[in-house]
Formats: sequence, structure tokens, C-alpha cells
Amino acid sequence: MRVKPMDTTTGRREFLKFLAGSPLLATLGLPLSLRGQYLENAEIGEKLITQVDEALNVFDFERLAKERLPPAHWGYLASGVEDNATLRANRDAFKNYHLRPRRLVDVSSIDMGRTLFGVRWDSPIFLCPVASQKAYHPEGEVAVARAAKSRGHLQVLSTGTTSPLEDVNAARGMPVWFQLYTQGWEITRSFIRRAEDAGCPVLVLTVDQLRPQQNSETQFRYIREDTRSCVQCHDPDDRLKNKRMFDNVNLEARESDRDQLTWDVIGKLRELTRMKIVLKGIVTREDAQLCLKYGVDGIIVSNHGGRAQESGWATLDSLPEVVEAVDGRIPVMVDSGFRRGTDIFKALALGATAVGIGRPYLWGLAAFGQEGVERVLELLRLELELAMMSSGARTLDEISPRSLGKQ
Ligand SMILES: Cc1cc2nc3c(=O)[nH]c(=O)nc-3n(C[C@H](O)[C@H](O)[C@H](O)COP(=O)(O)O)c2cc1C
Repeated sequence: MRVKPMDTTTGRREFLKFLAGSPLLATLGLPLSLRGQYLENAEIGEKLITQVDEALNVFDFERLAKERLPPAHWGYLASGVEDNATLRANRDAFKNYHLRPRRLVDVSSIDMGRTLFGVRWDSPIFLCPVASQKAYHPEGEVAVARAAKSRGHLQVLSTGTTSPLEDVNAARGMPVWFQLYTQGWEITRSFIRRAEDAGCPVLVLTVDQLRPQQNSETQFRYIREDTRSCVQCHDPDDRLKNKRMFDNVNLEARESDRDQLTWDVIGKLRELTRMKIVLKGIVTREDAQLCLKYGVDGIIVSNHGGRAQESGWATLDSLPEVVEAVDGRIPVMVDSGFRRGTDIFKALALGATAVGIGRPYLWGLAAFGQEGVERVLELLRLELELAMMSSGARTLDEISPRSLGKQ
């Protein structure tokens, strides 16, 4: 007997019709194309946590954050650029390495301490600068600062902060590092003066976002799904209204100058400030060498969490050539895609001095405010500790390239 070939077009149409009528889909409120997507580790069907201590890993906060945030804000947080290839590459790169467990080492005492510019931190994990944190929780950057204080982590504050820098420092109990996007020289100078007056020891110049607006397709799709009016949060006549660094600033002097910056910007910044200067967004050996030539004090190997450029290149894979070029002369930090203690361990083994997280702490913030951020930090520390123990590394200095194998 001949089997009748299936009419796949009709079958698919029928299936979609069935789904469209499904009450489940109606309650989710998003079209099929966006459901479950852009969750980095979607376990469809897994229950959302209801309390902070139920979280087993940072992805538990991600699911809840997605549920709690308005689609436009979720889209801004989750988005990469274009096909999100760099966003995915950041995560996929960790799979290329495995840990090399070592046995019968006394690892009953683990020290994760790291010194950066003369300051000793209990952990190599730091909080990356992220703009507009009040979009995730009413206490925004101040809640993050309290969590950073209670858990002893370094916090870097964005130029796009929605809380005043001085309030963040007060909540942190010490001055944070200040991240700079230049805005034309007059305003840039005023930002630097304000950061210096507030006691910030380090200026982090971000060099990978050449325009304020990127080709963030995921974000734009989510904005279309949001039924609220944007005017509730954003004043169309004053787009900087919630950005506290722009308080009392002559906005007429504002220039979009990021795409004009060249290496002489380092000398210009040096003339203005005694803060250490760190460049964020360096990914090649050539630029690492130029950082040394121009006297930069530190580097953050970063692709902005896959949101700046669709290079398709993971920071874990850019890290080794930067580390090699720098050869221990200045600290090399890294961020983009770190979600597990083992991820952090791998970067440390490849020579990173410290590792930054962005989205994971915002998932915690959106889900439970300060407590959520604290729990995210605790989970990552715990996981890093376990990775160190199983690798026989009692200190960060005992983590080396030999701690890893290539898959
Ligand atoms: C919503 C969002 C806003 C960001 N805003 C800034 C910013 O204002 N300045 C900056 O230097 N980096 C910014 N970043 C990049 C982060 O500092 C960091 O490089 C990135 O989030 C690390 O990747 P991860 O989110 O995968 O951990 C932002 C990232 C996100 C997700």
C-alpha cells in the first residue's frame, strides 16, 4: 500500500490555527514569535520562583524578570544587535573549554580575593555599568549599591545612571568607579569633575558603542508588543530627564562625539583627571598594545554583552590575545555572557584579573530588588568556589591555563 504524502502546508496551517485558538497563548499576551525567545536558558514549563532563596541559579531570576518587566524594558535588557550572533557567541564560547579536576588537594580554605589598583576585593566578580536601572526597579542603582556593599563587590556606575552618583556612593559606602560616555568636551569635563569630587578612583571610558542607538532588533520587536504609552516613563521633549548625570548641565553643549574619538583622547583625559583610566571594549591585541602605548591603566575586554557590534566574536575568545599583548603590565578584566561560576573560572584561567556581570544582576534587581542582586552574587561566588575546589585551586593565582582543557 502506498502511503499518501503529507500536505505539510495544510498541516502547518492547521497547527498554527490550533495554537492561535489556544487559551494558553492568549494568556501569554505575546505573539508566538516572541514566546520563550531571548531567554538565554529557557526551560519552558519550569515554575517561576516566588521567593529569592528558591533561586538555584541566575537563570531563575531571568525568567522572573521577563515576567515582571514591561516588554519594552525587557527587550532593552535582553537585546543584542541584529541576529544576536555575538550575544550567543559569548555563551557558546564557554563550551569550548572544560575544567581539569585535580584530586587530593586540601581545599578546605578558599580565598577568592583579588587586588585591583591597590584595593583588595573579596571576589573577582564586579558589577558592570548598566544604564537606566530604575527601569528594572524603583530603587535602581542605589539598591545595587547596597547589595554591592553587603556582599563586598566592586560596582561601576554608568553615565546613564538614573540615581545621582553621590547617592550611589553613599549607599555603596565608598566611591564607585565611574563609566564615561563622552558628550562633547564641555559636558565630559563636568562629568569628570563631578566624579572626581565624589571621590571616584577610576574612570572607565567605554569605546565600543559608537552611537547611542544600535541596531537592536530584539528590543524594537519587544517595544512593538508593549501596549503602554512610552510617555509614562520617557518625556519625548527631554530624553535625558531621568539621567541624573545631566542634572544642571548645559544641554545645548551636548555633542554626539563617540564616533570621532581617537587615541589622543587618553592624553586629553589625563590632563583633566588623576583618576585611573580604564578602557572598556578592547578585544584585539593591536588595541591592547595601543592601550599600553598611550598609558592606559587597565582594560576591560568587552563586547558590551553582544549589544554594540555584531562581530560574532565571544569575549572569552578575544581575551587570550589581549592578555598576551599586555603581559601582566596592567589589569585585564573581562565581561559579556558570564552566567556561571565555571564561566568565571575559565576567564580567570585564561588570564583575566576580574570578571564583570551585567544582565544577571539586573535580573536579580528586577525580580527582588537589592535582595535579588545579593543572591545573584552569592550564587556566582558559590559556583566559583566549587569550581576552584574541584580544580585544586585555593587562590585565584592557583588558577592557570593548566586548569583548563580545550574540548
Ligand atoms: C541594558 C544594558 C545597558 C548597558 N548600559 C551600559 C552603559 O551605560 N555603559 C557601558 O559601558 N556598558 C553598558 N552595558 C554593557 C555592560 O557594561 C556589560 O558590558 C555587559 O552587560 C556585559 O554582558 P552581560 O550582560 O552578558 O553580562 C549595558 C548592558 C546592558 C545589558
